[in-house]
Amino acid sequence: MSRDDLMAGRERADGPSRWFADADAYDAWFDQPWGRYATSVEHDLLLDAMGPVAGLEVCDAGCGTGRFTARLELLGARVVGVDRDRASIELARGRVAGGVVAGDVQHLPFENDCFDATVAVTVCEFAADPGAVIAELARVTRPGGRVVIGSLQRSSPWGWWNRRQFRRPPWDAARFVASDDLDLVAHVHGATCRTRGLYAPAALPGITRWGPMLERAGRRVAPRHAAFEVVTIAIPG
Ligand SMILES: C[S@@+](CC[C@H](N)C(=O)[O-])C[C@H]1O[C@@H](n2cnc3c(N)ncnc32)[C@H](O)[C@@H]1O
Repeated sequence: MSRDDLMAGRERADGPSRWFADADAYDAWFDQPWGRYATSVEHDLLLDAMGPVAGLEVCDAGCGTGRFTARLELLGARVVGVDRDRASIELARGRVAGGVVAGDVQHLPFENDCFDATVAVTVCEFAADPGAVIAELARVTRPGGRVVIGSLQRSSPWGWWNRRQFRRPPWDAARFVASDDLDLVAHVHGATCRTRGLYAPAALPGITRWGPMLERAGRRVAPRHAAFEVVTIAIPG
């Protein structure tokens, strides 16, 4: 997606989302070797960005099958998940104790300033208007709270390794938004900071052993080649 399209909030999809995937198959990915590894790196980055979540009210926008929603609950947050995919919502409801509501994350069904933190993980890639998602997260987050946006970066070893997969659903519908551009849009709502991780391209043999070393090296030597980036907005207090 070009910077101009993102800034102009141009919707190119017919509906609010470009996500069309089998929820069971998507959910099963998390239990595969690459899913387990990538998820642990991504969740650590997201949780670092969010800070301690115990006791916080959190909205997980585009929660999908509720994997991260459940993790937040385990850590003591009171979480509401929002998604528009019915099958994903069903799976999420079986996994999380709090509410999971059907809705469009570009028009969140909540009043202003009602969450301590909001998070959207690989949602901007599939929402018709990523700028509207970020504006909505900022709107429902209380002054002093944080908005945390996780995004996948195609210009990474993971992007190169999986390039053929991007021709198949659901990835053929994804529009990868460069984190520089996400940051530009996010910056309108408050001070931003970015963190990066996930340098392994795939579940190569022994990844659980050498993966953490690669993460440390990647962050030091080639930070911009991370597959996963987190933009955090500090909503002014
Ligand atoms: C790649 S999945 C990520 C799910 C979850 N955040 C995770 O990390 O597993 C993208 C999710 O965003 C949701 N989504 C995309 N656009 C949306 C919209 N406009 N409103 C609500 N949900 C949306 C999809 O339904 C899908 O569940």
